[in-house]
Amino acid sequence: MPEPHLRTVVVLAAGEGKRMKSSLPKVLHPLLGRTLLGHVLAAAAPLRADRSVVVVGHGADQVRAHLAEIAPEATPVLQAQQLGTGHAVRIALEAVPDAAGTVVVINGDVPLLRPETVAALVEAHEGAGAAATVLAAEVPDPTGLGRIVRDAAGRLEQIVEERDATPDQRALREINAGIYAFDLARLREALGKLSTDNEQGEEYLTDVFGLLRDAGEPVAVHVAADHVETLGCNDRVELAALRRLLRDRVNEGWMRAGVSILDPDTTWIDVTAAVERDAVIDQNTQLQGATTVGAGALVGPDVTLIDTTVGEGATVLRSHAVGAEVGAGASVGPYAYLRPAARLAEKSKVGTFVEVKNSELGAGAKVPHLTYVGDATIGAKANIGAATIFVNYDGVNKHRTTVGEGAFVGCDTSLIAPVEVGAGAYVAAGSAIAQDVPPGALGVTRAPQRNIEGWVARKRPGTVSAAAAERAGRAGEGASGNPGSASEGEPLHGGAETVGGPSGAGDTATE
Ligand code: UD1
Ligand code: MG
Repeated sequence: MPEPHLRTVVVLAAGEGKRMKSSLPKVLHPLLGRTLLGHVLAAAAPLRADRSVVVVGHGADQVRAHLAEIAPEATPVLQAQQLGTGHAVRIALEAVPDAAGTVVVINGDVPLLRPETVAALVEAHEGAGAAATVLAAEVPDPTGLGRIVRDAAGRLEQIVEERDATPDQRALREINAGIYAFDLARLREALGKLSTDNEQGEEYLTDVFGLLRDAGEPVAVHVAADHVETLGCNDRVELAALRRLLRDRVNEGWMRAGVSILDPDTTWIDVTAAVERDAVIDQNTQLQGATTVGAGALVGPDVTLIDTTVGEGATVLRSHAVGAEVGAGASVGPYAYLRPAARLAEKSKVGTFVEVKNSELGAGAKVPHLTYVGDATIGAKANIGAATIFVNYDGVNKHRTTVGEGAFVGCDTSLIAPVEVGAGAYVAAGSAIAQDVPPGALGVTRAPQRNIEGWVARKRPGTVSAAAAERAGRAGEGASGNPGSASEGEPLHGGAETVGGPSGAGDTATE
Protein backbone atom coordinates (compact mmCIF):
# COMPACT_ATOMS: atom_id res chain seq x y z
CA MET A 1 0.00 0.00 0.00
CA PRO A 2 1.42 3.44 -0.90
CA GLU A 3 1.45 6.02 1.85
CA PRO A 4 -1.71 8.13 1.78
CA HIS A 5 -1.06 11.69 0.64
CA LEU A 6 -1.84 14.21 3.29
CA ARG A 7 -2.38 17.31 1.23
CA THR A 8 -3.35 17.76 -2.38
CA VAL A 9 -3.79 20.98 -4.31
CA VAL A 10 -6.15 21.13 -7.29
CA VAL A 11 -6.12 24.21 -9.52
CA LEU A 12 -8.98 24.63 -11.98
CA ALA A 13 -7.65 26.03 -15.23
CA ALA A 14 -9.62 24.39 -18.03
CA GLY A 15 -11.98 27.28 -18.77
CA GLU A 16 -11.61 29.38 -21.87
CA GLY A 17 -12.08 32.75 -20.33
CA LYS A 18 -14.38 33.80 -23.19
CA ARG A 19 -14.59 37.40 -22.06
CA MET A 20 -10.83 37.87 -22.35
CA LYS A 21 -11.37 37.62 -26.14
CA SER A 22 -7.89 36.18 -26.51
CA SER A 23 -6.11 33.38 -28.32
CA LEU A 24 -4.10 32.96 -25.12
CA PRO A 25 -5.87 30.85 -22.46
CA LYS A 26 -7.00 33.12 -19.64
CA VAL A 27 -4.77 31.57 -16.98
CA LEU A 28 -1.67 32.31 -19.10
CA HIS A 29 -2.20 36.06 -19.17
CA PRO A 30 0.71 37.81 -17.44
CA LEU A 31 0.40 39.98 -14.38
CA LEU A 32 3.53 41.64 -12.95
CA GLY A 33 5.95 38.78 -13.37
CA ARG A 34 3.78 35.69 -13.32
CA THR A 35 0.85 34.32 -15.24
CA LEU A 36 -2.50 34.19 -13.45
CA LEU A 37 -1.85 30.47 -13.00
CA GLY A 38 1.66 31.17 -11.73
CA HIS A 39 0.27 33.49 -9.05
CA VAL A 40 -2.21 30.87 -7.87
CA LEU A 41 0.45 28.15 -7.73
CA ALA A 42 2.73 30.52 -5.80
CA ALA A 43 -0.04 31.16 -3.27
CA ALA A 44 -0.41 27.40 -2.75
CA ALA A 45 3.32 26.61 -2.76
CA PRO A 46 3.97 27.10 0.97
CA LEU A 47 1.42 24.33 1.73
CA ARG A 48 4.08 21.93 0.43
CA ALA A 49 1.35 19.72 -0.95
CA ASP A 50 2.29 16.14 -1.69
CA ARG A 51 0.49 16.39 -4.99
CA SER A 52 -0.56 19.30 -7.19
CA VAL A 53 -3.02 18.71 -9.99
CA VAL A 54 -3.87 21.34 -12.57
CA VAL A 55 -7.01 20.74 -14.61
CA VAL A 56 -6.36 21.85 -18.19
CA GLY A 57 -8.75 22.06 -21.14
CA HIS A 58 -8.83 25.17 -23.30
CA GLY A 59 -5.36 25.70 -24.76
CA ALA A 60 -4.25 22.56 -22.91
CA ASP A 61 -0.97 22.26 -24.80
CA GLN A 62 0.01 25.83 -24.03
CA VAL A 63 -0.95 25.48 -20.38
CA ARG A 64 0.95 22.17 -20.08
CA ALA A 65 4.06 23.70 -21.64
CA HIS A 66 3.88 26.63 -19.21
CA LEU A 67 3.43 24.27 -16.25
CA ALA A 68 6.45 22.24 -17.30
CA GLU A 69 8.42 25.47 -17.03
CA ILE A 70 7.09 26.97 -13.81
CA ALA A 71 5.89 23.93 -11.82
CA PRO A 72 7.25 20.70 -13.28
CA GLU A 73 6.14 18.84 -10.16
CA ALA A 74 2.46 19.59 -10.89
CA THR A 75 0.40 17.05 -12.79
CA PRO A 76 -1.74 18.39 -15.61
CA VAL A 77 -5.03 16.52 -16.02
CA LEU A 78 -7.13 17.01 -19.13
CA GLN A 79 -10.79 17.93 -18.86
CA ALA A 80 -11.71 17.62 -22.53
CA GLN A 81 -15.13 19.21 -22.12
CA GLN A 82 -15.80 21.91 -19.56
CA LEU A 83 -18.82 20.42 -17.85
CA GLY A 84 -18.48 22.47 -14.68
CA THR A 85 -16.23 23.03 -11.69
CA GLY A 86 -17.55 19.89 -9.95
CA HIS A 87 -16.80 17.80 -13.01
CA ALA A 88 -13.30 19.33 -13.18
CA VAL A 89 -12.50 18.38 -9.57
CA ARG A 90 -13.92 14.88 -10.08
CA ILE A 91 -11.54 14.33 -13.01
CA ALA A 92 -8.63 15.78 -11.05
CA LEU A 93 -9.19 13.40 -8.15
CA GLU A 94 -9.37 10.40 -10.48
CA ALA A 95 -5.73 11.17 -11.28
CA VAL A 96 -4.73 10.77 -7.61
CA PRO A 97 -6.66 7.67 -6.49
CA ASP A 98 -4.50 7.11 -3.42
CA ALA A 99 -4.70 10.69 -2.15
CA ALA A 100 -6.28 11.30 1.24
CA GLY A 101 -6.37 14.02 3.88
CA THR A 102 -6.99 17.63 2.89
CA VAL A 103 -7.46 18.83 -0.66
CA VAL A 104 -7.31 22.54 -1.46
CA VAL A 105 -9.19 23.56 -4.60
CA ILE A 106 -8.41 26.94 -6.17
CA ASN A 107 -9.94 28.60 -9.23
CA GLY A 108 -7.13 29.44 -11.64
CA ASP A 109 -8.12 33.09 -11.97
CA VAL A 110 -7.60 34.61 -8.51
CA PRO A 111 -4.07 35.99 -8.78
CA LEU A 112 -4.11 38.32 -5.78
CA LEU A 113 -4.58 35.43 -3.37
CA ARG A 114 -1.79 35.44 -0.76
CA PRO A 115 -0.12 32.33 0.68
CA GLU A 116 -1.04 33.46 4.21
CA THR A 117 -4.72 33.37 3.31
CA VAL A 118 -4.56 29.87 1.84
CA ALA A 119 -2.67 28.73 4.93
CA ALA A 120 -5.26 30.31 7.25
CA LEU A 121 -8.09 28.61 5.33
CA VAL A 122 -6.42 25.21 5.65
CA GLU A 123 -5.65 25.75 9.31
CA ALA A 124 -9.25 26.73 10.08
CA HIS A 125 -10.56 23.79 8.07
CA GLU A 126 -8.29 21.18 9.65
CA GLY A 127 -8.64 22.73 13.11
CA ALA A 128 -12.43 22.49 12.95
CA GLY A 129 -12.35 18.99 11.48
CA ALA A 130 -14.73 20.23 8.77
CA ALA A 131 -15.73 18.18 5.74
CA ALA A 132 -15.61 21.30 3.57
CA THR A 133 -14.62 24.94 4.12
CA VAL A 134 -15.14 27.74 1.66
CA LEU A 135 -13.21 31.02 1.56
CA ALA A 136 -15.75 33.83 1.52
CA ALA A 137 -15.58 37.61 1.38
CA GLU A 138 -17.89 40.58 1.71
CA VAL A 139 -17.57 42.49 -1.54
CA PRO A 140 -18.94 45.85 -2.63
CA ASP A 141 -20.22 44.40 -5.91
CA PRO A 142 -21.13 40.70 -5.92
CA THR A 143 -22.40 40.66 -9.51
CA GLY A 144 -21.82 37.32 -11.26
CA LEU A 145 -20.50 35.52 -8.19
CA GLY A 146 -21.86 32.64 -6.10
CA ARG A 147 -23.50 33.79 -2.85
CA ILE A 148 -22.95 32.33 0.60
CA VAL A 149 -26.38 31.51 2.01
CA ARG A 150 -26.42 31.14 5.81
CA ASP A 151 -29.17 29.89 8.10
CA ALA A 152 -30.67 31.85 10.98
CA ALA A 153 -27.81 30.72 13.22
CA GLY A 154 -25.25 32.01 10.70
CA ARG A 155 -24.19 28.53 9.58
CA LEU A 156 -23.52 27.81 5.92
CA GLU A 157 -26.62 26.45 4.28
CA GLN A 158 -25.61 26.42 0.64
CA ILE A 159 -23.73 28.28 -2.08
CA VAL A 160 -26.00 29.58 -4.84
CA GLU A 161 -24.82 30.76 -8.23
CA GLU A 162 -26.18 34.17 -9.18
CA ARG A 163 -28.07 32.76 -12.16
CA ASP A 164 -29.87 30.29 -9.89
CA ALA A 165 -30.42 32.66 -6.99
CA THR A 166 -33.67 34.16 -5.71
CA PRO A 167 -33.86 37.97 -5.55
CA ASP A 168 -33.27 37.78 -1.78
CA GLN A 169 -30.18 35.66 -2.25
CA ARG A 170 -28.90 38.01 -4.94
CA ALA A 171 -28.99 40.84 -2.43
CA LEU A 172 -26.37 39.04 -0.33
CA ARG A 173 -22.90 40.52 -0.60
CA GLU A 174 -21.00 37.64 0.93
CA ILE A 175 -19.55 35.69 -1.97
CA ASN A 176 -17.73 32.46 -2.70
CA ALA A 177 -14.12 33.29 -3.60
CA GLY A 178 -13.64 30.02 -5.47
CA ILE A 179 -11.06 28.71 -2.98
CA TYR A 180 -11.87 25.72 -0.79
CA ALA A 181 -10.49 23.08 1.57
CA PHE A 182 -12.12 19.65 1.66
CA ASP A 183 -11.67 16.35 3.38
CA LEU A 184 -10.78 14.32 0.35
CA ALA A 185 -12.73 11.13 1.11
CA ARG A 186 -15.94 13.02 1.85
CA LEU A 187 -15.45 15.24 -1.19
CA ARG A 188 -15.09 12.21 -3.48
CA GLU A 189 -18.31 10.79 -2.18
CA ALA A 190 -20.25 14.03 -2.58
CA LEU A 191 -18.89 14.65 -6.10
CA GLY A 192 -20.47 11.36 -7.14
CA LYS A 193 -23.87 12.78 -6.23
CA LEU A 194 -23.74 16.10 -8.13
CA SER A 195 -26.57 16.85 -10.50
CA THR A 196 -26.62 19.15 -13.50
CA ASP A 197 -30.01 20.49 -12.55
CA ASN A 198 -29.15 24.19 -12.77
CA GLU A 199 -29.34 27.09 -15.17
CA GLN A 200 -26.04 26.18 -16.91
CA GLY A 201 -26.58 22.40 -16.92
CA GLU A 202 -23.15 21.97 -15.29
CA GLU A 203 -21.82 20.02 -12.33
CA TYR A 204 -21.21 22.73 -9.73
CA LEU A 205 -18.48 22.13 -7.18
CA THR A 206 -20.36 24.53 -4.94
CA ASP A 207 -23.30 22.11 -4.67
CA VAL A 208 -21.04 19.83 -2.62
CA PHE A 209 -21.58 22.15 0.36
CA GLY A 210 -25.36 21.71 0.39
CA LEU A 211 -25.02 17.96 -0.13
CA LEU A 212 -22.56 17.54 2.75
CA ARG A 213 -24.62 19.69 5.05
CA ASP A 214 -27.78 17.72 4.24
CA ALA A 215 -25.83 14.57 5.09
CA GLY A 216 -25.07 16.04 8.50
CA GLU A 217 -21.40 16.71 7.75
CA PRO A 218 -19.75 19.83 9.23
CA VAL A 219 -19.24 22.52 6.59
CA ALA A 220 -17.65 25.89 7.34
CA VAL A 221 -17.03 29.37 5.98
CA HIS A 222 -13.67 31.09 6.38
CA VAL A 223 -13.92 34.81 5.76
CA ALA A 224 -10.95 36.43 4.01
CA ALA A 225 -9.38 39.33 5.87
CA ASP A 226 -9.18 41.40 2.68
CA HIS A 227 -11.73 40.89 -0.07
CA VAL A 228 -9.29 42.23 -2.67
CA GLU A 229 -7.43 38.91 -2.53
CA THR A 230 -10.47 37.07 -3.76
CA LEU A 231 -11.03 39.16 -6.88
CA GLY A 232 -11.26 37.04 -9.99
CA CYS A 233 -10.30 38.00 -13.51
CA ASN A 234 -12.82 37.62 -16.29
CA ASP A 235 -11.90 40.27 -18.84
CA ARG A 236 -9.07 42.64 -19.64
CA VAL A 237 -10.63 45.51 -17.73
CA GLU A 238 -10.57 43.39 -14.59
CA LEU A 239 -7.04 42.25 -15.43
CA ALA A 240 -5.91 45.88 -15.58
CA ALA A 241 -7.63 46.61 -12.26
CA LEU A 242 -5.91 43.61 -10.66
CA ARG A 243 -2.58 44.79 -12.05
CA ARG A 244 -3.00 48.16 -10.37
CA LEU A 245 -3.96 46.54 -7.07
CA LEU A 246 -0.98 44.20 -7.19
CA ARG A 247 1.31 47.09 -8.15
CA ASP A 248 0.19 49.00 -5.07
CA ARG A 249 0.72 45.96 -2.85
CA VAL A 250 4.21 45.34 -4.23
CA ASN A 251 5.23 49.01 -4.05
CA GLU A 252 3.98 49.31 -0.50
CA GLY A 253 6.04 46.27 0.45
CA TRP A 254 9.25 47.77 -0.97
CA MET A 255 8.62 51.19 0.54
CA ARG A 256 8.14 49.59 3.96
CA ALA A 257 11.40 47.74 3.36
CA GLY A 258 13.30 51.01 2.90
CA VAL A 259 13.06 51.73 -0.82
CA SER A 260 12.06 55.21 -2.04
CA ILE A 261 9.45 55.06 -4.77
CA LEU A 262 8.92 58.60 -5.96
CA ASP A 263 5.76 57.96 -7.95
CA PRO A 264 4.11 54.68 -6.93
CA ASP A 265 1.36 55.13 -9.53
CA THR A 266 3.85 54.85 -12.41
CA THR A 267 6.24 52.33 -10.89
CA TRP A 268 5.61 48.71 -11.87
CA ILE A 269 7.70 46.13 -10.06
CA ASP A 270 7.20 42.45 -10.87
CA VAL A 271 6.66 40.18 -7.89
CA THR A 272 9.84 38.40 -9.01
CA ALA A 273 12.07 41.49 -8.84
CA ALA A 274 13.94 42.73 -5.76
CA VAL A 275 15.15 46.12 -4.55
CA GLU A 276 17.56 46.84 -1.69
CA ARG A 277 17.41 49.55 0.93
CA ASP A 278 17.84 53.19 0.06
CA ALA A 279 17.48 52.56 -3.62
CA VAL A 280 15.47 55.35 -5.27
CA ILE A 281 13.02 54.41 -8.00
CA ASP A 282 11.95 57.44 -9.98
CA GLN A 283 8.75 57.70 -11.98
CA ASN A 284 7.73 55.69 -15.04
CA THR A 285 9.93 52.75 -14.17
CA GLN A 286 9.36 49.03 -14.72
CA LEU A 287 11.44 46.38 -12.95
CA GLN A 288 10.64 43.08 -14.59
CA GLY A 289 11.48 39.41 -14.28
CA ALA A 290 14.54 38.58 -12.19
CA THR A 291 15.69 42.21 -11.98
CA THR A 292 17.50 43.28 -8.81
CA VAL A 293 18.44 46.79 -7.78
CA GLY A 294 21.22 47.26 -5.24
CA ALA A 295 21.33 49.46 -2.17
CA GLY A 296 21.39 53.18 -2.83
CA ALA A 297 21.05 52.82 -6.60
CA LEU A 298 19.07 55.42 -8.52
CA VAL A 299 16.82 54.01 -11.23
CA GLY A 300 14.56 56.16 -13.37
CA PRO A 301 12.80 58.19 -14.50
CA ASP A 302 11.63 56.32 -17.61
CA VAL A 303 13.56 53.09 -17.18
CA THR A 304 12.64 49.52 -18.07
CA LEU A 305 14.83 46.79 -16.63
CA ILE A 306 14.18 43.16 -17.58
CA ASP A 307 16.19 40.38 -15.91
CA THR A 308 18.85 42.97 -15.13
CA THR A 309 21.11 43.39 -12.12
CA VAL A 310 21.92 46.89 -10.93
CA GLY A 311 24.73 47.16 -8.39
CA GLU A 312 24.97 49.27 -5.28
CA GLY A 313 24.98 53.00 -5.87
CA ALA A 314 24.65 52.70 -9.65
CA THR A 315 22.59 55.17 -11.69
CA VAL A 316 20.29 54.26 -14.58
CA LEU A 317 18.42 57.10 -16.28
CA ARG A 318 15.86 56.93 -19.12
CA SER A 319 17.13 53.60 -20.45
CA HIS A 320 16.10 50.10 -21.44
CA ALA A 321 17.99 46.97 -20.35
CA VAL A 322 17.44 43.27 -20.93
CA GLY A 323 19.59 40.58 -19.35
CA ALA A 324 22.29 43.08 -18.41
CA GLU A 325 24.55 43.55 -15.37
CA VAL A 326 25.30 47.05 -14.17
CA GLY A 327 28.14 47.13 -11.66
CA ALA A 328 28.31 49.06 -8.41
CA GLY A 329 28.59 52.78 -8.93
CA ALA A 330 28.24 52.47 -12.71
CA SER A 331 26.30 55.02 -14.71
CA VAL A 332 23.89 54.27 -17.54
CA GLY A 333 22.01 56.68 -19.78
CA PRO A 334 20.17 58.83 -20.38
CA TYR A 335 18.96 56.91 -23.44
CA ALA A 336 21.07 53.78 -23.33
CA TYR A 337 20.07 50.31 -24.52
CA LEU A 338 21.70 47.38 -22.75
CA ARG A 339 21.06 44.03 -24.39
CA PRO A 340 21.65 40.50 -23.10
CA ALA A 341 25.07 39.85 -21.57
CA ALA A 342 26.03 43.52 -21.44
CA ARG A 343 28.23 43.46 -18.34
CA LEU A 344 29.36 46.76 -16.90
CA ALA A 345 31.97 46.56 -14.15
CA GLU A 346 32.00 48.94 -11.22
CA LYS A 347 32.14 52.65 -11.92
CA SER A 348 31.99 52.17 -15.67
CA LYS A 349 29.84 54.42 -17.82
CA VAL A 350 27.49 53.84 -20.73
CA GLY A 351 26.14 57.19 -21.79
CA THR A 352 23.69 58.71 -24.22
CA PHE A 353 22.50 56.81 -27.30
CA VAL A 354 24.81 53.90 -26.63
CA GLU A 355 23.84 50.28 -27.31
CA VAL A 356 25.78 47.46 -25.67
CA LYS A 357 25.34 43.75 -26.40
CA ASN A 358 27.25 40.68 -25.18
CA SER A 359 30.18 42.79 -24.05
CA GLU A 360 32.16 43.48 -20.92
CA LEU A 361 33.22 46.93 -19.83
CA GLY A 362 36.07 46.93 -17.31
CA ALA A 363 36.05 48.97 -14.13
CA GLY A 364 35.91 52.67 -14.83
CA ALA A 365 35.72 52.21 -18.62
CA LYS A 366 33.69 54.87 -20.43
CA VAL A 367 31.52 54.77 -23.51
CA PRO A 368 29.91 58.18 -23.18
CA HIS A 369 27.96 58.78 -26.41
CA LEU A 370 26.49 57.55 -29.71
CA THR A 371 28.19 54.17 -29.86
CA TYR A 372 27.43 50.54 -30.66
CA VAL A 373 29.38 48.00 -28.60
CA GLY A 374 28.74 44.42 -29.72
CA ASP A 375 30.71 41.27 -28.79
CA ALA A 376 33.52 43.23 -27.19
CA THR A 377 35.77 43.17 -24.17
CA ILE A 378 36.77 46.65 -23.07
CA GLY A 379 39.50 46.93 -20.45
CA ALA A 380 39.43 48.94 -17.25
CA LYS A 381 39.56 52.71 -17.66
CA ALA A 382 39.51 52.54 -21.46
CA ASN A 383 37.75 55.48 -23.15
CA ILE A 384 35.66 54.95 -26.25
CA GLY A 385 35.00 58.16 -28.20
CA ALA A 386 31.64 59.22 -29.57
CA ALA A 387 30.27 57.44 -32.65
CA THR A 388 32.54 54.43 -32.33
CA ILE A 389 31.12 51.31 -33.94
CA PHE A 390 32.25 47.87 -32.91
CA VAL A 391 31.73 46.19 -36.27
CA ASN A 392 30.95 42.67 -35.09
CA TYR A 393 28.94 41.08 -37.89
CA ASP A 394 30.21 40.05 -41.32
CA GLY A 395 26.77 39.03 -42.54
CA VAL A 396 27.25 35.42 -41.47
CA ASN A 397 29.26 35.31 -38.24
CA LYS A 398 29.79 37.51 -35.21
CA HIS A 399 33.37 38.34 -34.18
CA ARG A 400 34.90 39.78 -31.02
CA THR A 401 36.83 42.96 -30.42
CA THR A 402 39.17 43.47 -27.50
CA VAL A 403 40.18 46.90 -26.28
CA GLY A 404 42.91 46.79 -23.65
CA GLU A 405 43.08 48.48 -20.31
CA GLY A 406 43.56 52.23 -20.47
CA ALA A 407 43.22 52.32 -24.25
CA PHE A 408 41.88 55.44 -25.93
CA VAL A 409 39.70 55.19 -29.01
CA GLY A 410 39.07 58.46 -30.87
CA CYS A 411 35.64 59.47 -32.12
CA ASP A 412 33.97 58.14 -35.24
CA THR A 413 36.03 54.99 -35.35
CA SER A 414 35.09 51.58 -36.71
CA LEU A 415 36.72 48.66 -34.94
CA ILE A 416 36.29 45.85 -37.45
CA ALA A 417 36.25 42.52 -35.62
CA PRO A 418 38.05 40.31 -35.00
CA VAL A 419 40.53 42.91 -33.87
CA GLU A 420 42.46 43.90 -30.78
CA VAL A 421 43.47 47.31 -29.54
CA GLY A 422 46.28 46.75 -27.03
CA ALA A 423 46.52 48.08 -23.51
CA GLY A 424 47.27 51.77 -23.44
CA ALA A 425 47.03 52.08 -27.23
CA TYR A 426 45.45 55.03 -29.00
CA VAL A 427 43.28 54.97 -32.09
CA ALA A 428 43.03 58.20 -34.08
CA ALA A 429 39.57 59.66 -34.58
CA GLY A 430 37.91 58.73 -37.84
CA SER A 431 39.85 55.48 -38.30
CA ALA A 432 38.62 52.14 -39.59
CA ILE A 433 40.70 49.63 -37.62
CA ALA A 434 40.84 46.11 -39.04
CA GLN A 435 44.33 45.17 -37.81
CA ASP A 436 45.52 44.83 -34.26
CA VAL A 437 46.99 47.92 -32.63
CA PRO A 438 49.89 46.91 -30.36
CA PRO A 439 49.96 48.13 -26.75
CA GLY A 440 51.03 51.73 -26.54
CA ALA A 441 50.87 52.30 -30.32
CA LEU A 442 48.72 54.77 -32.23
CA GLY A 443 46.50 53.17 -34.86
CA VAL A 444 45.35 55.46 -37.63
CA THR A 445 43.79 54.81 -41.01
CA ARG A 446 42.53 58.27 -41.78
CA ALA A 447 42.88 59.48 -45.38
CA PRO A 448 44.98 62.65 -45.62
CA GLN A 449 42.85 65.79 -45.81
CA ARG A 450 42.96 68.11 -48.78
CA ASN A 451 41.31 71.54 -49.00
CA ILE A 452 40.17 72.71 -52.41
CA GLU A 453 40.29 76.47 -52.26
CA GLY A 454 37.42 78.46 -53.76
CA TRP A 455 35.32 75.37 -54.38
CA VAL A 456 32.14 76.88 -52.89
CA ALA A 457 32.33 80.04 -54.95
CA ARG A 458 32.77 77.96 -58.13
CA LYS A 459 30.36 75.10 -57.46
CA ARG A 460 27.71 76.66 -55.15
CA PRO A 461 27.42 80.28 -56.25
CA GLY A 462 24.50 82.23 -54.83
CA THR A 463 24.09 80.04 -51.75
CA VAL A 464 24.14 81.06 -48.10
CA SER A 465 27.49 79.31 -47.86
CA ALA A 466 28.95 81.19 -50.79
CA ALA A 467 27.83 84.52 -49.29
CA ALA A 468 29.28 83.61 -45.90
CA ALA A 469 32.52 82.49 -47.51
CA GLU A 470 32.75 85.73 -49.38
CA ARG A 471 32.23 87.75 -46.21
CA ALA A 472 34.79 85.65 -44.36
CA GLY A 473 37.23 86.09 -47.20
CA ARG A 474 36.91 89.87 -47.10
CA ALA A 475 37.21 89.99 -43.32
CA GLY A 476 40.20 87.69 -43.51
CA GLU A 477 41.97 89.75 -46.15
CA GLY A 478 45.16 91.21 -44.92
CA ALA A 479 45.15 88.95 -41.86
CA SER A 480 46.38 85.37 -42.13
CA GLY A 481 44.98 85.05 -45.67
CA ASN A 482 44.83 81.78 -47.44
CA PRO A 483 48.15 80.07 -47.64
CA GLY A 484 48.77 78.73 -51.14
CA SER A 485 45.64 76.98 -52.26
CA ALA A 486 45.89 73.26 -52.78
CA SER A 487 44.94 72.11 -56.22
CA GLU A 488 42.38 69.30 -56.41
CA GLY A 489 43.95 65.98 -55.58
CA GLU A 490 46.93 67.40 -53.72
CA PRO A 491 46.98 66.61 -49.99
CA LEU A 492 47.45 69.48 -47.61
CA HIS A 493 49.40 67.36 -45.19
CA GLY A 494 51.26 64.31 -46.22
CA GLY A 495 52.43 62.47 -43.14
CA ALA A 496 50.24 60.21 -41.08
CA GLU A 497 52.19 61.40 -38.07
CA THR A 498 50.76 64.89 -38.59
CA VAL A 499 47.20 63.77 -39.22
CA GLY A 500 46.84 61.16 -36.58
CA GLY A 501 49.28 62.19 -33.90
CA PRO A 502 48.26 61.87 -30.30
CA SER A 503 46.99 65.43 -30.27
CA GLY A 504 44.84 64.66 -33.30
CA ALA A 505 43.24 61.73 -31.57
CA GLY A 506 43.03 63.50 -28.26
CA ASP A 507 41.37 66.57 -29.67
CA THR A 508 38.46 64.62 -30.98
CA ALA A 509 37.86 62.14 -28.22
CA THR A 510 35.33 63.02 -25.61
CA GLU A 511 34.94 62.98 -21.91
C1 UD1 B 1 -17.20 30.07 -9.70
C2 UD1 B 1 -18.10 29.58 -8.58
C3 UD1 B 1 -18.73 30.80 -7.90
C4 UD1 B 1 -17.66 31.71 -7.39
C5 UD1 B 1 -16.70 32.10 -8.51
C6 UD1 B 1 -15.52 32.83 -7.93
C7 UD1 B 1 -18.96 27.43 -9.32
C8 UD1 B 1 -20.12 26.71 -9.84
N1 UD1 B 1 -19.11 28.76 -9.11
O1 UD1 B 1 -18.01 30.72 -10.64
O2 UD1 B 1 -19.55 30.39 -6.85
O3 UD1 B 1 -18.22 32.87 -6.81
O4 UD1 B 1 -16.19 30.93 -9.16
O5 UD1 B 1 -14.73 33.36 -8.96
O6 UD1 B 1 -17.92 26.84 -9.09
N2 UD1 B 1 -13.23 25.52 -14.75
C9 UD1 B 1 -12.74 24.31 -15.18
N3 UD1 B 1 -13.60 23.44 -15.77
C10 UD1 B 1 -14.90 23.69 -15.93
C11 UD1 B 1 -15.39 24.93 -15.46
C12 UD1 B 1 -14.54 25.82 -14.87
O7 UD1 B 1 -11.55 24.04 -15.07
O8 UD1 B 1 -15.61 22.83 -16.45
C13 UD1 B 1 -12.31 26.48 -14.12
C14 UD1 B 1 -12.19 27.79 -14.83
O9 UD1 B 1 -11.12 27.76 -15.75
C15 UD1 B 1 -11.93 28.77 -13.69
C16 UD1 B 1 -12.62 28.13 -12.51
O10 UD1 B 1 -12.83 26.77 -12.84
O11 UD1 B 1 -10.57 28.90 -13.40
C17 UD1 B 1 -13.95 28.78 -12.20
O12 UD1 B 1 -14.78 28.68 -13.33
P1 UD1 B 1 -15.68 29.87 -13.79
O13 UD1 B 1 -16.41 29.46 -15.01
O14 UD1 B 1 -14.90 31.12 -13.84
O15 UD1 B 1 -16.72 29.91 -12.59
P2 UD1 B 1 -17.54 31.17 -12.12
O16 UD1 B 1 -18.76 31.25 -12.94
O17 UD1 B 1 -16.67 32.34 -12.03
MG1 MG C 1 -14.82 32.99 -12.84
